[in-house]
Amino acid sequence: MKFFIDTANLEDIAEAQALGVLDGVTTNPSLMAKEGITGEDNIINHYKKICDIVEGDVSAEVISTDFEGMVKEGEALAALHPQIVVKLPLIADGIKACKYFSDKGIRTNVTLVFSAGQALLAAKAGATYVSPFLGRLDDISTDGLNLIAEIRQIYDNYGFNTQILAASIRHTMHVIDCAKIGSDVMTGPLSSIKGLLKHPLTDIGLAKFLEDYKKGNS
Ligand code: G3P
Repeated sequence: MKFFIDTANLEDIAEAQALGVLDGVTTNPSLMAKEGITGEDNIINHYKKICDIVEGDVSAEVISTDFEGMVKEGEALAALHPQIVVKLPLIADGIKACKYFSDKGIRTNVTLVFSAGQALLAAKAGATYVSPFLGRLDDISTDGLNLIAEIRQIYDNYGFNTQILAASIRHTMHVIDCAKIGSDVMTGPLSSIKGLLKHPLTDIGLAKFLEDYKKGNS
């Protein structure tokens, strides 16, 4: 299972990278704005900075909602760095653009996916990644994990190569449940990755080992 971090915060990205378990980064316009990164040039520079920190895939989202605009923006983003994956919204023009990029060998991440039917379309269009937003479904009393399971079944039925990128992850149990279902990737905040470290018995056990070592060596 690949671990992506879902942020544009360079410190968080560097911390996850230093942990040695990071496979990539996902961003979106909201995450960029949260870090105060605005204006085309600053956004482009920020993507380059992210690519310098991590070794894996970096999803960069287009702002256009029409096919021509998405193609123009996506080609410019893909040309920035070999790690860039073009992120496209799941709308009709996004699916057309996904097919266009797929035919050209440019990797894509189809985002804002909330149904199995949408995920099927993204796979048919040759998406590299599909991003179902599980937390946002949970927010409206709908079972987000069930969507991940449905997509897993459909992709396995037909051998689609599109990787399921479980997005809108909020906490560690989302990560574990997605791993059990067989999601290819999860993207979440740093807390969802670091939270996996925690167990009181680890802390208690380590304290005891160190205490016994001291006793034996004093
Ligand atoms: O990767 C998608 C993600 O950024 C959305 O997360 O927490 O805003 O629902 P959230």
